[in-house]
Amino acid sequence: MPPILRLSPHPPATETLLRSCMLVLWFMMGVAIYGAPPSPTETVMPLERTAAIALYLGFGVALWFNTRHIAPHALERASMALLAFQAACGFTLHTDLLYLVAAQIPLALPGRAALTWIVCQTALLFVWILLLDSLGAPLQFMQLPQLPHLAVILMTDLGVFAGHGFAFFMGYLAASEARGRRAAERINAELEATREMLAQNTRAAERNYIARELHATLGHHLVALKVNLELAQHLAQAPNSTALSDSFDLVCRLLADVRAVVGQVRSAPNVDLRGALHTLLAGISECTVHLDFPEALDIRDPGLCHILFRCVQEGVTNTLKHSGARGVWVSFGAQQEDLVVTVRDDGRGCDTPDDGNGLTGMRERLAMAGGSLEIATGAGRGFTLTARLPGAIRRVDSARMRPEADAGGAA
Ligand SMILES: Nc1ncnc2c1ncn2[C@@H]1O[C@H](COP(=O)(O)OP(=O)(O)OP(=O)(O)O)[C@@H](O)[C@H]1O
Ligand SMILES: [Mg+2]
Repeated sequence: MPPILRLSPHPPATETLLRSCMLVLWFMMGVAIYGAPPSPTETVMPLERTAAIALYLGFGVALWFNTRHIAPHALERASMALLAFQAACGFTLHTDLLYLVAAQIPLALPGRAALTWIVCQTALLFVWILLLDSLGAPLQFMQLPQLPHLAVILMTDLGVFAGHGFAFFMGYLAASEARGRRAAERINAELEATREMLAQNTRAAERNYIARELHATLGHHLVALKVNLELAQHLAQAPNSTALSDSFDLVCRLLADVRAVVGQVRSAPNVDLRGALHTLLAGISECTVHLDFPEALDIRDPGLCHILFRCVQEGVTNTLKHSGARGVWVSFGAQQEDLVVTVRDDGRGCDTPDDGNGLTGMRERLAMAGGSLEIATGAGRGFTLTARLPGAIRRVDSARMRPEADAGGAA
């Protein structure tokens, strides 16, 4: 079956192009600022100049580092620290560097934090320019001698801030595109995993139907024929008639064959829950995902697989939606005869989660299989969902043993 939608693994990403342009721009700014030899009237000390160049190079490294993995869905301290360092360089070395910071903000911070940062940075720049001007620093303003000095400063600032806004929104577009692409990849993986599960469930249901029908029709009629032949053998004039005894043997063999076929059809591996979960989780790139599904745990029951798949899907979706976590851990395990599935994240958690449709649906599904759901969370303590299915391990193990038994006596 063809995949639902194949997203190219290496599309020409806007953020990569933007990042390249930013790095080239940074380099060219450096050439313009530090390339020319200092004029004889300048009183810059060699040590001061060396320190400035070192800071400028540091700015470039921070820029390169901070734009490697863009559009995070959670606030990261390292990204903020690197941005703060670059902004400080921009204020002290050359304010043109702040254009690069403005473009980088939406790439390095999640939505609302990015907006707050650019507003604060712009306000600070405004104050900084006023301060430098009052100290008599040689700033370049627009040449509008007919206007009062304050109006000239405001006009110049407006132009600069428009430039910052332009750079910010270019970064914002690239970040939005990256987030949209990730969401599309995740939804695509969800669809593929769901389709896998449905196809396997359908196949399993068909096989069980065929096995039941074989047993109910062919099996029963053959048993009836066998009984009739036995009776015929008793009533026959010549009890040792080879024709009758051959027919009887043939029916016995046919019955054994039907039993074997019914057993085989039922015993075929049903649903590959592990594979479906791998497909589902492979589509997540917003945070790291860890799946612990022991090889020994062989869950084949289609109904149970479907319930567990949906629980993991909802748990992980909640992590992406509510937690801002860096990692999510999905683990399957056994506690005596109970099957225990946990979905844990290291996100912001919450004090008292109010059940929405997601958690309610999860509880209802688990209750249908005789299980329950526990939640452990708290503000700043992450979120852990624990689904417990009492006795499921025993049922899983006995289902694994059943095929051999079925093969021997199903019909
Ligand atoms: N991983 C998580 N981190 C923090 N809070 C969470 C997490 N998972 C759930 N919650 C909290 O529990 C609430 C209920 O979750 P639930 O899945 O039932 O509803 P929902 O996700 O808000 O909406 P939906 O009905 O679309 O699933 C959420 O609104 C959220 O406050
Ligand atoms: Mg939900």
